[in-house]
Amino acid sequence: MLVAEHITKRFAGVTALDGVCLEFLAGNVTAVIGENGAGKSTLMKILSGVYPDYEGQIRLHGKPVRFNSIRDAQACGIAIIHQELNLIPYLSIMENIFLGREITTRWGTLDQKAMQSKTRELLDKLNLPIDPDTLVAELKVGQQQVVEVAKALLVESEIIIMDEPTSAITESEVAVLFTIINNLRRENKAIVYISHKLDELFTIADRYVVLRDGKTIESGSMQGIDHDALIRKMVGRDINTARRKTTDRVHDALLTVENLCLKHPVRLQENQLRNISFRVGRGEIVGLFGLMGAGRTELLETLFGLHSKRSSGTVSLDGQLVRVKAPADAIRLGMALVPEDRKKDGLVLGMDVQTNISLTALEKVERAGLLSQSKEVALAKQYIADLQIKTPSGKQAAKNLSGGNQQKIVLSKWLATHPKLLMLDEPTRGIDVNAKNEIYKLILQLADEGMGILVVSSELPEIMAISDRVLVMSEGVLTAEMAIQDASEDAILKAAIPKSMSE
Ligand SMILES: Nc1ncnc2c1ncn2[C@@H]1O[C@H](COP(=O)(O)OP(=O)(O)OP(=O)(O)O)[C@@H](O)[C@H]1O
Ligand SMILES: [Mg+2]
Repeated sequence: MLVAEHITKRFAGVTALDGVCLEFLAGNVTAVIGENGAGKSTLMKILSGVYPDYEGQIRLHGKPVRFNSIRDAQACGIAIIHQELNLIPYLSIMENIFLGREITTRWGTLDQKAMQSKTRELLDKLNLPIDPDTLVAELKVGQQQVVEVAKALLVESEIIIMDEPTSAITESEVAVLFTIINNLRRENKAIVYISHKLDELFTIADRYVVLRDGKTIESGSMQGIDHDALIRKMVGRDINTARRKTTDRVHDALLTVENLCLKHPVRLQENQLRNISFRVGRGEIVGLFGLMGAGRTELLETLFGLHSKRSSGTVSLDGQLVRVKAPADAIRLGMALVPEDRKKDGLVLGMDVQTNISLTALEKVERAGLLSQSKEVALAKQYIADLQIKTPSGKQAAKNLSGGNQQKIVLSKWLATHPKLLMLDEPTRGIDVNAKNEIYKLILQLADEGMGILVVSSELPEIMAISDRVLVMSEGVLTAEMAIQDASEDAILKAAIPKSMSE
């Protein structure tokens, strides 16, 4: 259906794509795989008209095409779900979905009814039963991702590109998406699927294409290829998976939380978190699992002082009762939170890498009360090297880095505060297998050095690999706690499913 020949794309100082050749077949799901910064998103942006400026040739049904805009590409039947969410927060779900392609009545006014019912239909199909008039700002990242999918499905397209559509959603939503992909395949569409979750690729993809450093390395059928072989093609070598060694470690208490409650922001008689009590020991890694909407993010945010007006309960750190009224208090006390949404809460996108990293630790980069450039550069250099952040220099704007590398900057800026307690909300979202493994190693090492770590993840294998202990949440309450030796994926999932759903 589509053939790309010798595509090259250069940015100032970076060759993102270097003579890429590949093809997408009708009725097939093609997985495009590669490490962070390999060039996957750049290629997809060229194929969908975002970057009109590139070298090489694209053929659609054998005919050479050149897209000058996203609209051009759309008109030729190419839809894309972008990796970074592109929704407008203060417009409703419906307004976002129909932006630039509104339905009008014969009098030229907006046909709200028609748009509403179409939106409702799309959301139903995707199992997101939310009012189309809800502002996108009120949605969680995972829900926003579902809206992005709905946006791409609005118009019938021949080629549907999905750039990490599942990075923020949980397994049940992934299942819904896969049903939709299977239907699209049956309708003979070409689907391009990018994901760092390799297991997903084995479920859904027919073919794969590997990109490494902007070049096509290999393509072929998913059949007969195994997990390790795929990683070898991506990374160019084998990797040893990091895993927490189970021991009978005893941890002194670092964080103790008792009866933590959080009121709903609008419906004040309702609680988003109810009587949550748990502890995290020094040097302990506690994994926190739950489905979308279970309240995990709210829990971390509350501990970090983001909802102090609505919360109650007691928190002690290092045996001292603490009152965290704002994030500044939390930071002073030695707490750090790596947020779930890097674009909105994690980074100042227009600022460069080194400024982003030093933002949380300004006192460490000052000299006589002034910002010391050389200290800032040194701090950034250290993290760029430690976390293998792929950037031409510390002076590159954060928005120009690939998604996974942006995530590493967020991690760096919080590690730079040298916290006692590190809270991580989906820390490996959008991170490739190799880098993920590096991050696991780092987390294990930080715990060994005595840091207490509370990590929220929707990926069970991740929870199982690095935790000492697992907490499970559902509908705002803790439903289970188990030592990793006693934990199984089944037991964790069972505790995560809301009562109302399991009955
Ligand atoms: N607008 C830009 N300006 C400068 N460099 C850019 C720009 N966009 C991308 N790059 C660089 O091009 C390279 C490829 O980036 P791209 O986003 O395509 O990677 P990716 O394979 O999608 O990675 P990830 O898995 O992290 O999403 C990276 O080195 C990135 O820093
Ligand atoms: Mg990308």
